Amino acid sequence: MSENDPERLIRGRYGLAPEAPLPFTPPPEVPPGLAALLDRRVTRRYAPDPVPEPLLQAVLAGAQSAPSKSDLQQYAIIVLRDAARIARIADWITGMDWIKQAPVFLLFCGDVRRGRWLCERHGRAHANDNVDTFLNATADAALALGFAVMAAEAAGLGTCPISYVRNHVEKIGPLCSLPEGVFPVAGLTLGVPAGPRNWLSPRLPQSVVVHAERYDESGLDAALPAYDAARPPAKPRYPEIHGPKPEGCAWSENAARQLSVPERFGLRAWLKLRGLSLD
Ligand SMILES: Cc1cc2nc3c(=O)[nH]c(=O)nc-3n(C[C@H](O)[C@H](O)[C@H](O)COP(=O)(O)O)c2cc1C
Repeated sequence: MSENDPERLIRGRYGLAPEAPLPFTPPPEVPPGLAALLDRRVTRRYAPDPVPEPLLQAVLAGAQSAPSKSDLQQYAIIVLRDAARIARIADWITGMDWIKQAPVFLLFCGDVRRGRWLCERHGRAHANDNVDTFLNATADAALALGFAVMAAEAAGLGTCPISYVRNHVEKIGPLCSLPEGVFPVAGLTLGVPAGPRNWLSPRLPQSVVVHAERYDESGLDAALPAYDAARPPAKPRYPEIHGPKPEGCAWSENAARQLSVPERFGLRAWLKLRGLSLD
């Protein structure tokens, strides 16, 4: 089987054993760009090699190639290359040592400030300071992050998104001089991958995620045991709250363990302080 064999790629993406039936017939061939996407995984180990500036700028241009709501481009990307500043973020977050290894840390932010400025510049009152604009800016930033991930992969680099920047907004904001109206969505470590590739994390079956014409969750209960079984037991989330589990946790149990603990409940207050209207 070749690396780009469609069946291999689909089995890998959904964690299906060789003898398991395929959920759909793959196309006879998968183009290389799509094959790379189907085989993508995060990189949590980096070589000390720097990312050449022209390559970084090409990756950033890739990020900017993402679609953007109404072409408004309501996002900003802060590029951190100073190892000491990246290390400060890693030290705040703790437990994610690959952040310090990465020569580049990108902070993807929603940016409603630029739109306010554009209105002022053209003598118009900004009439969309609301939750929809917040959502549009967040979607723009997330899409730019996704495109940066794929641009980096295409260039032989590795990435890992970092939501934990939102645990430290009150420090990351000043560190990156984020003005009012600009808020972190996620960080992204970027660098040359080192060591073996990360495992390919299987996705939920399409029967659970993709719906024909109408939302239909009737297959969820039946599909879950096989999906849980397709993944090795994971480190239990929040053992200090839910108790330890030496044998590890299935995906669904771990999702419930995580989602039952309130995370970042101060974020709304910080966003409001920074001039974001979430009404
Ligand atoms: C918005 C976002 C934030 C994330 N934050 C973190 C993070 O803080 N730390 C981390 O190790 N991985 C983080 N990840 C990576 C996910 O854990 C990873 O994508 C998931 O486990 C699936 O693995 P894969 O990307 O290799 O398929 C984040 C991913 C996204 C999309």
